[in-house]
Amino acid sequence: MNRLTYSLIVKDDNPSLREKSEPLKLPLSQKYQALAKRMLRYVKDSRDDEKAEKYDLKPAVGLAAPQVGVNVQMLVVVVDNEEDDFDEYVLANPKIISHSVQKTVLASGEGCLSVEDEHQGLVPRHARITVKAYDILKQEVVEFRANGYLAVVLQHEIDHLNGILFYDRINREDPWKLEENTLVIEA
Ligand code: NI
Repeated sequence: MNRLTYSLIVKDDNPSLREKSEPLKLPLSQKYQALAKRMLRYVKDSRDDEKAEKYDLKPAVGLAAPQVGVNVQMLVVVVDNEEDDFDEYVLANPKIISHSVQKTVLASGEGCLSVEDEHQGLVPRHARITVKAYDILKQEVVEFRANGYLAVVLQHEIDHLNGILFYDRINREDPWKLEENTLVIEA
């Protein structure tokens, strides 16, 4: 398959986005290693204005395999870190093995490459999570903690592997209702 473009991203009118994705067999086959590379390239290049324009990419911080039409448990996340650099996560079979009771929300809500309609409102997430996954770049099983923006993005992408979209989690009666003891992230 060639370069992924925005027009190839599966949109939320497609029922396949609502399916549960299959776990990947390890070690990862060539085919899925290639898929991981394409997904990572999409997300990294989408952060670069010139490449985003040239290759028809809508900016993203994460991408899950079902969004490119492959219902397997694989995701990519690329987020800025505090060292003026970025951290990248390319994971297979990710699981949240523990999480805080405390919730967090992005102040302006969430967006998604697969969702073109506006869905405004707060999306409650766990403030802190511990993730266990197969790290496709390191080729080993890893366990790590995440909080803040990274934790939100990881939960958004893991939701995709379970057929869940961010707007499923918005309070329908009161979309901007802020529950008590929720950390607000100004992204
Ligand atoms: Ni999404």
